[in-house]
Amino acid sequence: LFLTKMKLLLLSLGLTLICAHTEGTHDAVTSNFDPSKYSGEWYSILLASDHKEKIEENGSMRVFVEYIHALKNSSLGFKFHIIINGVCAAIEFVCDKTEEDGVYSVEYDGHNTFKVLETDYCNHIILYLINENHGNTVQLMQLYGRAPDVSSEVKHKFVNVCEKYGIVKENILDLTTVGNLCLSGRALA
Ligand SMILES: *[C@@H]1O[C@H](CO)[C@@H](O)[C@H](O)[C@H]1NC(C)=O
Ligand SMILES: *[C@@H]1O[C@H](CO)[C@@H](O)[C@H](O)[C@H]1NC(C)=O
Repeated sequence: LFLTKMKLLLLSLGLTLICAHTEGTHDAVTSNFDPSKYSGEWYSILLASDHKEKIEENGSMRVFVEYIHALKNSSLGFKFHIIINGVCAAIEFVCDKTEEDGVYSVEYDGHNTFKVLETDYCNHIILYLINENHGNTVQLMQLYGRAPDVSSEVKHKFVNVCEKYGIVKENILDLTTVGNLCLSGRALA
């Protein structure tokens, strides 16, 4: 546990250095991502799906991110929290790279493939996931912030991205208030 905390501390120090240099610019990139730069702590801000029940209370995809960790073997580690019966539980995943550039896969409530759509590394990241389970396909769009909230500009951008993928505004949830329950247990909170 101590080592994990040390690793996270080093990650967040590295992050501070990356972001200090780009203060004020924060240009978002949409390709050729450097996973080591989006490693570190994140907060779930907005969550959207074309199957809303998946992200509503008790939905399997209603997850609150704590961190992303770029592993040495090019896999990505994720730590999330999920609220089960009103209690916050931690879940961790290792997501392996697929043959497709920038696309990762993980088994959870079926088969999932996801990719980063855009990030400025320092403020926000948008991930797009496709879940396949028993012939059903579910789309999931996630907006994470480095801080517990992001600018309304970034939120508007996310709404537009969702629309582009056919996810309507009514299916976009704001997790910044409902996730409070899970914030107190965070490693670096
Ligand atoms: C990469 O490393 C992680 C952690 O050691 C491991 O769980 C995962 O299976 C590895 N992925 C591959 C593709 O070897
Ligand atoms: C979620 O699960 C809890 C515990 O099983 C239940 O009390 C609650 O009504 C459920 N909420 C919804 C929206 O189904």
